[in-house]
Amino acid sequence: MTDAAFDLVGLTRAYGALRAVDDVTLTVRAGARHALIGPNGAGKSTMFKLLTGEVRATAGRIRYFGTDITRYAQPRRARMRIAQTYQHSSVFMPLTVRENVALAAQRVQGIGTVWWRGAGRYGRRDSWAAENLAAVGLEQRADDPAAALSHGERRQLELALALASRPRVLLLDEPTAGMSSAESASFVALVKSLPTELTVIVVEHDLDVVFSLATQISVLHHGQLLATGDPDQVSADPAVQEAYLSWSATDDDLEGDLS
Ligand SMILES: Nc1ncnc2c1ncn2[C@@H]1O[C@H](COP(=O)(O)OP(=O)(O)OP(=O)(O)O)[C@@H](O)[C@H]1O
Ligand SMILES: [Mg+2]
Repeated sequence: MTDAAFDLVGLTRAYGALRAVDDVTLTVRAGARHALIGPNGAGKSTMFKLLTGEVRATAGRIRYFGTDITRYAQPRRARMRIAQTYQHSSVFMPLTVRENVALAAQRVQGIGTVWWRGAGRYGRRDSWAAENLAAVGLEQRADDPAAALSHGERRQLELALALASRPRVLLLDEPTAGMSSAESASFVALVKSLPTELTVIVVEHDLDVVFSLATQISVLHHGQLLATGDPDQVSADPAVQEAYLSWSATDDDLEGDLS
């Protein structure tokens, strides 16, 4: 057994001469709420793509709960329950909220065609859908078409769709982008309420969200890992403070103050 969800060693992804992720060695603890922060172009989304298998590493290793998955293709990693939220694309607008979740559960791992078959047809699937909707606070909206949801509610639905695959690790890339502050506060509460055994890695520009959510923070800068640790350690790190002062002078997306 290992208490690391991910062990990354020298992880690198180059695009020509550009190292989008550059020699990153990092441990993401199992059950962590791990925030990945850094300015635009720092390599955060590329890091997620390396974890899901959407892009292959140019160098380095990825261990996932002790298994070396560096060479595993994306579908195989999805079956190992590495999930991510997809912005918009996975929500079917004409379907109801409940139907969207039921469909996601069915799509992932072909569930519904195997072990649900004997269980009164769709009864089991529907109760699972209800469970996932309750987990994200959308049970009151279950019978409404997805198209009727507000922006914040749609992000909650995307989270329910990702949870339908019963992930072990959940990757959220800028989940609160475009949310009002009330929506983003309730999204933080929602992520906090997810099962503690679920590991959540979140890329987030809003430092209020980062500091209210994260148990671990990693800072990327030009593809390199500038700092990693608990929030107090990272915010006290002189290199991070210096970098954030210069980023906030140039980067409109980065609001807030680390000190
Ligand atoms: N497919 C690609 N081909 C070439 N360069 C790429 C590719 N994907 C990303 N890059 C480059 O790699 C660097 C890191 O990009 P990435 O999208 O990972 O940054 P990010 O930290 O997610 O930024 P943002 O905060 O803007 O989302 C950038 O310089 C980007 O232009
Ligand atoms: Mg990005």
